[in-house]
Amino acid sequence: MQQIHIQGGKLLEGTINISGAKNSCVALLPAAILCSNKAIIDNVPDISDVYYLEKIIEQLGGKITKDNDHFEIDCNNIKNTAIKEEYSSKLRASYYFMGALLGKFHYVEMYFPGGCNIGLRPINLHLEGFKKLGAKVINQGNKYIIKADSLKGNFINLDFASVGATINILLAAVLAEGQTIINNAACEPEIVNVASFLTSMGAKIYGAGTSRIKIIGVKELKSGYTEVIPDRIEAGTYLIMGALIGKKITINNIIPEHIESLTSKLLESGAELEIYENKIIVSQNKVKNAINIKSQVFPGFPTDIGQPMGLYMTQLNGFSTYEETIYENRMQYTKYLNQMGANMNVTGQKLSIIGPTPLKGAYVTATDLRAGATMVIAGLIADGDTYIEEINHILRGYSGIIEKLQAVGANIEIIEI
Ligand code: EPZ
Repeated sequence: MQQIHIQGGKLLEGTINISGAKNSCVALLPAAILCSNKAIIDNVPDISDVYYLEKIIEQLGGKITKDNDHFEIDCNNIKNTAIKEEYSSKLRASYYFMGALLGKFHYVEMYFPGGCNIGLRPINLHLEGFKKLGAKVINQGNKYIIKADSLKGNFINLDFASVGATINILLAAVLAEGQTIINNAACEPEIVNVASFLTSMGAKIYGAGTSRIKIIGVKELKSGYTEVIPDRIEAGTYLIMGALIGKKITINNIIPEHIESLTSKLLESGAELEIYENKIIVSQNKVKNAINIKSQVFPGFPTDIGQPMGLYMTQLNGFSTYEETIYENRMQYTKYLNQMGANMNVTGQKLSIIGPTPLKGAYVTATDLRAGATMVIAGLIADGDTYIEEINHILRGYSGIIEKLQAVGANIEIIEI
């Protein structure tokens, strides 16, 4: 079994180049199969989620040629087959093949998606959207069959501004007859990335990135091109690390506008940030003021940075609070930080933290992707050795995390035990 071993307490210095966004890329790859010939995607991150999506595309008859982060997907021979459970169960985002296959073939057969155990994570909003377009949804045990004689545009109001539902409905609607409106759509930057990719293929999409998206169905989508946007969650994770233990760290290849809710909170707490057009230079805070945060949909504070932020708050002076409003089970990580010396108290979805508390290295577990990244940063700031198990969660979403941290001086390695 593999573990990450970290010897903490060392100030870090240098440059970290941010990779393409996991949460964009996992939608762009399924979206590619909607085109009738070649789809090109640049800046694809090297993460295990991408590997499983590649397997699904190949199983559907797609041919992928890769040159580092440059993917070319030949979709001339895409055919409709039931997606293997061994792949679809590995990640939640496999559900984007529902929208893509329904949109292209009007028929989908696939197993429930996988994903982190951070909450129930139903997909009712996705399925309701498909039904509004004229599809029938059948549950067969742990398999979905979704089919339609034809797909017709409709008005779809989302009860919650779900990222996944917004993208999945978009994928199903671009080839439907007539106009579709997605009201109360999610506004995350990943949605704009997917919409611009589909538009490059000939789709007619208006308002992506706002809470009201209009789609005019077209007959066919031709070749398309896009570049995966920088990963705002990866960037935010390393920014928090820099504010905790950076001597001077340059976080490169970012879009600062995508993480303004984070940078404003870091500045409020006393962080030293130099913000440029596509990079931020961060150094360890001298001033460490307690802060209060509540996660929101974009452009509010992102739930995916809530766990690393919880760690950051343990090092601030006084009483900080964090409230999670998107998922119901994102606080498991606090028990490991408390084992390391933190003072975190969870009541439902509310977290109260008293700092600063020096942390000592310990044996900890990555309970999910972002909690795992939080354990890595905790190990970097703790005194002594930290060992992290269940590291597959971390490698799913942080491209080259070991190499990137070693390059700024971290004593971190993967060990076999
Ligand atoms: C995406 O998940 C991201 N994952 C998540 O990142 C991110 O936390 C989330 O958006 C919110 O920004 C990917 O893009 C692969 P949602 P998604 O639909 O689409 C409820 C990470 O760490 N909901 O916006 O699943 C749901 O239960 C991951 O990278 C329904 O009730 O998020 C949750 O409480 C974690 N019914 C809330 O909405 C539905 O049909 C947010 O879900 C769909 C969602």
